Amino acid sequence: MKALQILLISTLLLIGYRIAYAEESSTVLITGANRGIGLEYARAYRELGYQVIGTARRPEQANELREAGARVEQLDVTDAASVAALAERLDGVAIDILINNAGIFDRADVSLDKIDFDTMERTFRVNAFGPLRVTQALLPNLRAGKDKRIVNMSSQMGSIENSSGRWYAYRASKTALNQFTKSLSVELAPEGFVVVALHPGWVRTDMGGENATYSTDESVAGLVKVIGELDSERNGRFFDFEGKTIPW
Ligand SMILES: NC(=O)c1ccc[n+]([C@@H]2O[C@H](COP(=O)([O-])OP(=O)(O)OC[C@H]3O[C@@H](n4cnc5c(N)ncnc54)[C@H](OP(=O)(O)O)[C@@H]3O)[C@@H](O)[C@H]2O)c1
Repeated sequence: MKALQILLISTLLLIGYRIAYAEESSTVLITGANRGIGLEYARAYRELGYQVIGTARRPEQANELREAGARVEQLDVTDAASVAALAERLDGVAIDILINNAGIFDRADVSLDKIDFDTMERTFRVNAFGPLRVTQALLPNLRAGKDKRIVNMSSQMGSIENSSGRWYAYRASKTALNQFTKSLSVELAPEGFVVVALHPGWVRTDMGGENATYSTDESVAGLVKVIGELDSERNGRFFDFEGKTIPW
């Protein structure tokens, strides 16, 4: 009888804890979360107890993301219908942190003679217009969130001051993303939003290649810390994964 009482009490305590936990835990949405830095973000935020919504262009293939414990949602950031459908499925869901992570880097346009304008347009559609489109569509969700953080995954290659040239499309698309970051930060500041551009370091992913300096763990551990320390003073700025300011 006593054992039954203990079992009942501990079950009730566990249920109570789960309800309290579910109410308190924050939600992060990460685009392009099926591999690379996005997948690592999903794992890291799950470990911290966040509800994670991870998007993938092909959710049926996003097994690692699902195994990480994320809610997997379909999203192609270049496709207006796909973005609108995501917003509709997430209607009423509060999002605390949006991480616009999806990106592409086609290295063919290393010099002027090699520029391909289809690639240029596609790179801008994914890297610059994509984050803006997603942010616009999910603004009601972000307004309902507690934290009001928007993180645009940029690159130091988007810094004009630090540029050593080459790769016209990627660099310029990230520079455009930085400008969008600044505009969003100014427009949304009165509502308590903090909007930043972050550079993850040179990271060993499909994009970064195997010779890159940092593992996804190292990069994302730094990025999560930087995001956790964001406040109104840091709004509208450009940082690397160690929290150092990068010149525009
Ligand atoms: N790795 C680095 O060294 C480095 C350095 C500086 C900045 N960054 C930035 O960090 C971010 C993540 O990079 P990563 O290295 O993790 O890249 P990655 O391994 O190539 O992964 C890119 C992710 O973006 C997704 N994606 C591509 N096009 C998309 C679209 N149209 N709609 C939705 N998702 C799309 C990919 O999905 P699919 O699997 O469907 O293609 C994938 O999930 C990018 O914004 C990148 O520019 C990376």
